[in-house]
Amino acid sequence: MDNTKREHFGSHLGVLLAMAGGAIGLGNMWRFPYLVGKNGGAAFILVYLIFVVFLCLPILISEYAIGRRTQKNAFGAFRALSKNKNWSLIGVFAVLAAVCVLSFYCVVGGWSVKYLVESLKFNMPQLDSSYFNGFISSSISPVIYTLIFLGMTGGVLVLGIQNGIERFSKVMMLVLCVLIVLIAVRSVTLPGSSEGIKYLFVPDLNALDGKAVLEALGQSFFSLSIGCGTVLTYGSYVNKNENIIASSLKVAMFDTAFAMIAGVAIIPAVFAIAYMHGATPEIGAGPGLVFITLPSVFNEMPMGGFVAVLFFATLLIAAITSAISLMETFVTYEIEEWKVSRKKAVWIAFAICSVLGIFCSLSQGVLSGVKLFGQNIFDFFDKLSANVLMTGGGLLLVLFVGWSMKKEDYIDELSNGHTNNVPLWLLSTIYYLVKFVAPVTIVVVALANFIL
Ligand code: PHE
Repeated sequence: MDNTKREHFGSHLGVLLAMAGGAIGLGNMWRFPYLVGKNGGAAFILVYLIFVVFLCLPILISEYAIGRRTQKNAFGAFRALSKNKNWSLIGVFAVLAAVCVLSFYCVVGGWSVKYLVESLKFNMPQLDSSYFNGFISSSISPVIYTLIFLGMTGGVLVLGIQNGIERFSKVMMLVLCVLIVLIAVRSVTLPGSSEGIKYLFVPDLNALDGKAVLEALGQSFFSLSIGCGTVLTYGSYVNKNENIIASSLKVAMFDTAFAMIAGVAIIPAVFAIAYMHGATPEIGAGPGLVFITLPSVFNEMPMGGFVAVLFFATLLIAAITSAISLMETFVTYEIEEWKVSRKKAVWIAFAICSVLGIFCSLSQGVLSGVKLFGQNIFDFFDKLSANVLMTGGGLLLVLFVGWSMKKEDYIDELSNGHTNNVPLWLLSTIYYLVKFVAPVTIVVVALANFIL
């Protein structure tokens, strides 16, 4: 394919919001708040921030740089940059990881569609745990919602980079910010919410153990979407005059800020309502926090029906912009490597993810007996992508940049050919973090994960 004909993002803001849209998702809205609560509040946030700055940010910058330098899909990018063709396997890894993440992500995306529909019907009072469990384990309804979610994702992608991804992300990210701030304000103005704020921000160092550190690392990878080719793919649509380091920093800050605000939107509300009933706040409910605990919170809160609509709309928008980045990674790969049209590529991606998504959805019910390595299909995809493919992809990526790519080429890309005034010490620091610190940290954490 002729690179000059390749579509690009149209503006600096477009790049930023599309990338932030890919990063901000279900990971920020339910996983982060719940992990913070479980692992010692502010202490966990501190560890998380250290990982974001010293490990994930350099990886994010590197993945972005590889995409921008080659202007190719994840597979083509590594093939173009390496003399040894084995390195292009990293690209295969990345594309596979993106498909795997999307396969279970679209199921939760489907749940969000369903809950938005129910909240629009002001049906919150019925949405208790047995409703949720009954819904996700049934065979037809969650499958249909999963397909609707994938259909919406594919619908945006058919429109292309500027008209689809960029335009959608620009509008939706702004809506997203307004909504989450509104919900956060509602949450902290509930009587009794201050306990929740304390829980969230006053560090309890005792709650911070080795496992919490591992969880902070996993969460930072997942939340910033690194190691599965989505950042690389978006990077390949970025113009040569964009400052990679500055925009990566902004994306990381945006993602982290959003996670914090989501925490403020959720946790204090859960505390406030629990205290109203003299009950203990059920903060550690994982996925149930959003789909079981929160509906009961909305039921009790003044203007709760309205807040529920806002919340599930926010959740859906966040999930879709992430799903878009995942599907686009596969779609670009198909367009450039299989030489198919965008429309056809989207259909193929939709078909493959639908089949996998249906299996993941059914594994909550009729197929719950089917085990892969001791886990149901949904959990298997979840673990496989986060713990193996994304972390493995991240490791291979840093090994590639640090040990196969020429340092001058890397620095040249980050500094836009030494024209963007990024100081040399900063460029070298990033390079050495990628070359030494990142691989060692990933291996140590992976081993610890394995042993613990
Ligand atoms: N970062 C997204 C989230 O927080 C998930 C994601 C992972 C998206 C990997 C793309 C790639 O929900």
